Amino acid sequence: MALKFYTIENFNLEDKTVLLRVDINSPVDPVNEKILDDTRIRLHSETIRELASKGAKTVILAHQSRPGKNDFTTLEQHAQELERILNMNIGYVDDIFGSNAQNRISQMRKGDILLLENVRFYSEEVLKREPSLQSQTHMVKNLSKSADFFINDAFAAAHRSQPSLVGFAFTLPSGAGRIMEKELNILNNALESVKRPCVYVLGGVKVDDSVMVIENVLKKGSADYILTTGVVANIFLAASGIKIGKPNYEFIESKGYKNYIKKAKELLKKFKEQIILPVDVAVCKDNKREDIKVKNIPNYPIYDIGLETIKIYAQIIRDAKTIFANGPAGVFENEEFSLGTDDLLNAIASSEGFSIIGGGHLAAAVSRVVSSGSINHISSGGGACINLLAGEKLPVVEVLKEVTLKYGDRKVFK
Ligand code: 3PG
Repeated sequence: MALKFYTIENFNLEDKTVLLRVDINSPVDPVNEKILDDTRIRLHSETIRELASKGAKTVILAHQSRPGKNDFTTLEQHAQELERILNMNIGYVDDIFGSNAQNRISQMRKGDILLLENVRFYSEEVLKREPSLQSQTHMVKNLSKSADFFINDAFAAAHRSQPSLVGFAFTLPSGAGRIMEKELNILNNALESVKRPCVYVLGGVKVDDSVMVIENVLKKGSADYILTTGVVANIFLAASGIKIGKPNYEFIESKGYKNYIKKAKELLKKFKEQIILPVDVAVCKDNKREDIKVKNIPNYPIYDIGLETIKIYAQIIRDAKTIFANGPAGVFENEEFSLGTDDLLNAIASSEGFSIIGGGHLAAAVSRVVSSGSINHISSGGGACINLLAGEKLPVVEVLKEVTLKYGDRKVFK
């Protein structure tokens, strides 16, 4: 499918100030606050190197986690990681669009790189609003005055309509970075040639994204089975009338996901045959794994899918011709509870079907378990990847297409 947006080729970057949005949101150790996995930082470093080598003054915008979460931190460490990976000087300023940031930008020379502070420290960034309204925010208005172009490489956040992601397309000539371009090419091509049976393996804690995907793909008839794991499975188990135990209900409530139990009930009513639930789970009792049938879940936290479930799911995966997976099956950082995530990844790697793994935590687990070459594509995006595969329009892609429509697809910005 031909891409209908500008890429780096459409910009004459020499001595120009470029705002570059990346997604270097990374897993951070809750205790020592160190970055645990630098995959996304490595990926974007290539786009950054290219912009710098073409003479741009590159001003990087990025987020880390969400307000209220324990990994919601400053980007100072990300700047150090970038510096290590690129072996180039990376400036960092603990400001987004105030006078400190503006001063630093105005002092940049060609080839310089500056990382601004976590954009989600700014309250307007996390308001969900349509793209044109996001262009009216203080961040977009102020930073647009200091820049010539906007390049969006944050594929992993392309499903979010937030100011730093969609606002600049209304104020500056805008295009896609290399990661954005590559992901959209690969994923759109994969969508054009889906073979059946097509299986979605959905887990992790981002229940909002997963439930939306389940609804979309089952309504469209584009999935044969949804294998539920992680917190997604707990929601569906609760919806099916299984008592999942107090700590697990409390966790769902604390994340604001209680309403999804009702939604899951409706989905189970319509698509009982396609939505597959665990038959057993592993709970954490005195820091040890205990596998238990779902009808007997005690008041202990569920940290993984159970051994019987792993066998059933692995067989469905092996028989599939297309597999899309997002989110880990459990608390895989703890070895006792990594079995579900690891075994399902092994089943995906050994399946002959075409496989795509959503980024973030599951992608981080891949390198530990299987050779990355045995998976057809490991996306840098989790929610964004799975939203695209479910046929959702990604706000970031939509605004990039609009810019191209506005100027014509052969335009070169000088
Ligand atoms: C991700 O990790 O999926 C992206 O960085 C988007 O993060 P979000 O779900 O907090 O918007």
